[in-house]
Amino acid sequence: MSTDYDRIAREYQASKLQPWRTHVERHTLLELLGDVRGLSTLDLACGEGYYTRLLRKLCAQPVVGVDLSRGMIELAEAQEAAQPLGIAYHAGDARAVDLGPSRDLVFAAYLLNYSEDYDQLLAMCEAIARNLKPGGRFVTVNNQPNDPPSNFETGRAYGYSKRLEAGRSESLREGDPIVWSFHLPEGSIEVTNYYLTEATVECALRAAGLQNIRWHLPRVSPTGLQEFGESHWRPLLACPPIAFLECHR
Ligand SMILES: C[S@@+](CC[C@H](N)C(=O)[O-])C[C@H]1O[C@@H](n2cnc3c(N)ncnc32)[C@H](O)[C@@H]1O
Repeated sequence: MSTDYDRIAREYQASKLQPWRTHVERHTLLELLGDVRGLSTLDLACGEGYYTRLLRKLCAQPVVGVDLSRGMIELAEAQEAAQPLGIAYHAGDARAVDLGPSRDLVFAAYLLNYSEDYDQLLAMCEAIARNLKPGGRFVTVNNQPNDPPSNFETGRAYGYSKRLEAGRSESLREGDPIVWSFHLPEGSIEVTNYYLTEATVECALRAAGLQNIRWHLPRVSPTGLQEFGESHWRPLLACPPIAFLECHR
């Protein structure tokens, strides 16, 4: 069943503050993004703007955020009103975004894994390519295709877990729903995304005209290592739940 982000916008926002998300997800993305100063940027599936604001604070300019969930966009706009950064937010489907080939950088944290089949994935990749300048870069993080169901409970130590929907076999097939739970002090929330293999993602990116595809493993921030110790992060790094990727138009 697809996830109603309108209903869980605030809880999802809180989940971004779990230490594994700041010390691993955010840290790895920031390293991967590098210097974004002056880069015209589009954040697809921007949610409540967690990375959109970060990109703008790193001096990307102009920055536009798009998300399917009206509730997420309202949260993003409320934060923009409280602390204006000059970000433009729009509610809509990433697949329909057309700003012309105007962006140096398209960013998307957890967009591709919301495609339920190859056609939806291809439409997302085509939108990414359509909005990039020739030579422009796409940076993304999604569910890790090589994370086996036998590893889905490892995340509990970090505040998340994954599971297959009832009745699904342990051998993952393209399009299988993967239910992520984020265990927060206020209770747990669930979001469902869909299993994609590396080969399928690469095939759709290439078909959309994107090239030079590179996958990246997560890394832990120096502060995260200092605060929690190396052994805390070992299980997560041994079989990471998320996969990072960059490519160019
Ligand atoms: C896991 S959240 C990530 C939000 C944000 N990128 C972050 O990292 O905090 C996934 C987001 O993707 C959005 N989404 C899913 N499918 C989409 C689509 N086709 N177009 C735009 N947004 C989409 C959802 O509404 C949700 O806000």
